[in-house]
Amino acid sequence: MKLKRYSTLMVLALGLAFGTAQAADPIIIKFSHVVAAGTPKGKAADYFAKLVGEKTQGRVKVEVYHNSTLYKDKEEMEALQMGAVQMLAPSLSKFRPLGVKEFEVFDLPFIFDDYTELHRVTQGPIGKSLLNKLEPKGIKGLAYWDNGFKSFSANRPLHELADYKGLKMRIQSSKVLDAQMRALGTIPQVMAFSEVYQALQTGVVDGTENPISNLYTQKMHEVQKHLSLTNHGYLGYGVITNKKFWDGLPADVRGQLEGAMTEATAYANKIAKEENDDALAAVRKSGKTRVYTPSNADRQELKRALFPVHKVFASSIDETLVQSIYKETGFDPNKL
Ligand code: LMR
Repeated sequence: MKLKRYSTLMVLALGLAFGTAQAADPIIIKFSHVVAAGTPKGKAADYFAKLVGEKTQGRVKVEVYHNSTLYKDKEEMEALQMGAVQMLAPSLSKFRPLGVKEFEVFDLPFIFDDYTELHRVTQGPIGKSLLNKLEPKGIKGLAYWDNGFKSFSANRPLHELADYKGLKMRIQSSKVLDAQMRALGTIPQVMAFSEVYQALQTGVVDGTENPISNLYTQKMHEVQKHLSLTNHGYLGYGVITNKKFWDGLPADVRGQLEGAMTEATAYANKIAKEENDDALAAVRKSGKTRVYTPSNADRQELKRALFPVHKVFASSIDETLVQSIYKETGFDPNKL
């Protein structure tokens, strides 16, 4: 009798302890990224965290680490593979080290003229099949989040092709971007995003390329006297997670996270253009950077100068993929 009461108490105590532990220990998702909180990616990550808290009623907690506070570019990829962080949204230009070369297609200069063309790819079957290619590498691709179209900046006006010659330009770690910069006669230098401001300030590099939201939120406009609105390439993100972690989640939780991701993606892609437009207005207002809008003829000249990059990389990326994107977007190399 005594023994029975004792074991009942034990069961009760254990149950309580377990119950408390469950309530007190939510599943933690560390979401690390390298740009500021006030960018399209930073805002979408915060929104995702909020939605997850609501949908799972606190069972899952997403901790967002903005602005390289947890990991820098290269480290964050390694951390994801090791399971030290559960979610990232690196720029598509940084996917090559994951072992899927096809993502380099997003770096081809002028491959998308606007968000509509881009979405035909990222929100259609091509985008989905690219994300699927990550799975054998232990990565689950959840969504594409937009940022925007890149512009060149430097401390000298960038009006004509000749203006680019000899400039040292910071790039993300991408062979396609390296070739793009060389095609302009510049000297590319790979550098983590967190180091760009200082490198521009101290003259380690002369210029860079980025959507304006990144330029402005890192205060790069304070150390770049000229900005040329070239919109010559796209910069956006793949939201990724560790596949083992994802597959190990309870099915109902995974469903809630997927729902939150769908809503956060719609939000990210809705605000991206606005955020970049607002950032451009703020750069103009600051009076620190002279903003130049190239004429159609200038842009055409830039396009022609950069098209050889497509020819060099099409076969190593995947000729069929490149052609299928041209078909989706209406890109016609014969009309350059
Ligand atoms: C860069 O390194 O320039 C970008 O990838 C930063 C980002 O995540 O937008």
